[in-house]
Order: sequence, then C-alpha cells, then structure tokens
Amino acid sequence: MAKIADTTRESWIKSTFPEWGTWLVEDIESEVVPDGQVAMWWLGCTGVWFKTPGGANITIDLWCGNGKRTHGDNQMKPGHQMANMCGGRLMQPNLRNVPFVIDPFAFKQVDAVLATHYHQDHMSIEWAAHVINSGMTTTDENGKEIPVPFIGPLKSVETWKKWGVPEERCRIVKPGDVIKLKDIEIVCLDSFDRTCLVTTDSTGEDREELTGVCPTDMDEKAVNYLVKTPGGNIYHSGDSHFSIYFAKHGKDHDIDVAFGSFGENPIGMQDKMTSVDVLRMAENLQCKVVIPIHWDVWTNFQADCEEIKLLYDFKKDRNEYKFHPFFWQVGGKYVYPQDKDKIYYHHRRGFEDCFEHPQNIPFRSCL
Ligand SMILES: [Fe+2]
Repeated sequence: MAKIADTTRESWIKSTFPEWGTWLVEDIESEVVPDGQVAMWWLGCTGVWFKTPGGANITIDLWCGNGKRTHGDNQMKPGHQMANMCGGRLMQPNLRNVPFVIDPFAFKQVDAVLATHYHQDHMSIEWAAHVINSGMTTTDENGKEIPVPFIGPLKSVETWKKWGVPEERCRIVKPGDVIKLKDIEIVCLDSFDRTCLVTTDSTGEDREELTGVCPTDMDEKAVNYLVKTPGGNIYHSGDSHFSIYFAKHGKDHDIDVAFGSFGENPIGMQDKMTSVDVLRMAENLQCKVVIPIHWDVWTNFQADCEEIKLLYDFKKDRNEYKFHPFFWQVGGKYVYPQDKDKIYYHHRRGFEDCFEHPQNIPFRSCL
C-alpha cells in the first residue's frame, strides 16, 4: 500500500502517466490482422497506427506532446503561423484535451515512421528517440534487413535531423513518390495545408516577412498519403484544408477510407476543415468511409462530430452520397473492411463473462 512518506510529485506522475500505460501497446502488439483486412488505431490528433496481415506496422503523425501548460506572458510570438494568419498576439489557449493512450517507449517493433508535415503536433522526438535507441529494424522490398526509415517531406526530415536522427535513416518524399514496405504501398500525394504555407522557420522579432512573397513550395512542407493495404486504400490528409483537388486524387486512386482534420475554427481563424468541408472532401475523394480526426486534441478547436452526422443525414439523399462517416474515439481500433458498416465507435464495455462464475452476493434480490 502506498504511504504518504513515499508519495511525491514524481511518484504521482510516474504512477498516473501516460494515462493508459501500456494497455493499448499490448493490444496493438497482440493483434493478429486477418487476411484481406487492415487494422488501425487512433492515437490522438492525426496519429494513426496501421497494422497489416503481412506484419507491417507503420505510424503516421504519431505524436506524444501537449499544448499550453502555463499562461506564461500570455503572448504568441510574432511569426507563429497563427499570428501570421490572423494578426493576433494573444496566446492561443490550445490545451491538450485527450489522454495519452500510448507509451511510445513500450513498443517493440515498427517498420516505418511517417509524418505528413512538421508542425509540432504531428512529429514526436520521443518516438524518434525510442525507434533509434532501441535499434529497431525492418526489411526492405528485397527482404534485406534495414534500420527503420523515417519518411516525410523535406521540412519533416529537417526536423528529424535536428533532433539527431541520422540522415541516412531519413527519406524525403514528395507527391508522386511510392514506397513499398512488406504488404503495403505508400503513395505520396499533394497536401492542401494552407496553415503550413504561412509557417516560417523563424519567429519572434526576426520573423520571416511573408507579405507579397509568393507561397513557398507546399511539397517541401507537407504531403498527404494513400496507404494501400490488403484491407483497402486508406487516405491520410494530414492537416489539409479543403481543396477541389481532392477530386483529382479521387479520380486517380481508389480510396476506401479517408481521414480528415476536423475542428471548430475560432473566430478569425481558418485552420481545420468544417463539417461541410469533411463531407465535401469525402464526396470529392469518392471514398467509402470518411473519418474525422484532430477534433479531439485542442481545447480551443474542439468540435462536435454530431454536426457532421446531422449534415450528412440532411444531404445524403439529395447528393446521393456513396460514403458514410465513421465517428472514432482516441485509443479505438478500426478494422477495414470488417468494420465498414459501423457509424460510431465505442470502447469495449467488458463483463463479457458475466454469470459464468459463482456470484458473491447476500441475496439474488440485490441484483
Ligand atoms: Fe495539426
């Protein structure tokens, strides 16, 4: 039993954090993915773990950080992308709104670490450190053992390198690139993350001046991914805003499931897709299932997925939607196509073995 004498701030943090301990890590590692399926777990924000029947494990945008933890001077640095966009200086109250459902240091194996872009909520120094320091390897398309690669656009690779990931471990990708890995193929596609376009390298007094400057090349900053698996083709749009070019991606590729970054944009801000945008993205991509993500993580962008459901029901017959939404929960598993008809995710409720053992109650009338 715990004693007051041994209880400190450090012991409390160690015993309660990460909130889910290794529960989900154990689930992911013990999952056997049936043939013709792909299993995915939502890790919060846009972080998704993919696992295939052929034993390929990849992460896209796995991130283990948080947002504001103190009011500080209540100021946002000039040159921060949000300050660039809206001309505000008040600190953004973006506190992390969901628990940590993984312990990144507990995983034993991954085959590739991918990032859609280099914003802080899409890359993890902790995950990079664990993958490097534990010496994890995978096999390339010829079956040769190689160190686990770090795959992302130029700016993501620059971030990994700054953290200490060796250059030879990194692979810079741009739209059009295709990477094969065990039983999956990753197709890199255009991103439409316009927040990324107003992100500069320097903030503070020496902020980079963007006024009148032609936008820099999006391909160096962000990409979308189409992950082709034995269970279907999964489209990860990173933090893309809505674009009519989703329609081109939908014509060029068969897309089964699409993830879109949904959020309730504060007044004066345009960063996440709205409910209308999420439905339009799904329509344009011609996907079968659309899954809103990212809405979970920031207190100041929190959105209600029921808004998507309401609009979907309102428009589906007139627009003859061929897709439906799926509303996920952080830490939840989604197996495609096995779960293709589900609309809502619910965590396991337990007590499956009720009344299979003797009870221990005074009277049956207690029940
Ligand atoms: Fe983000």
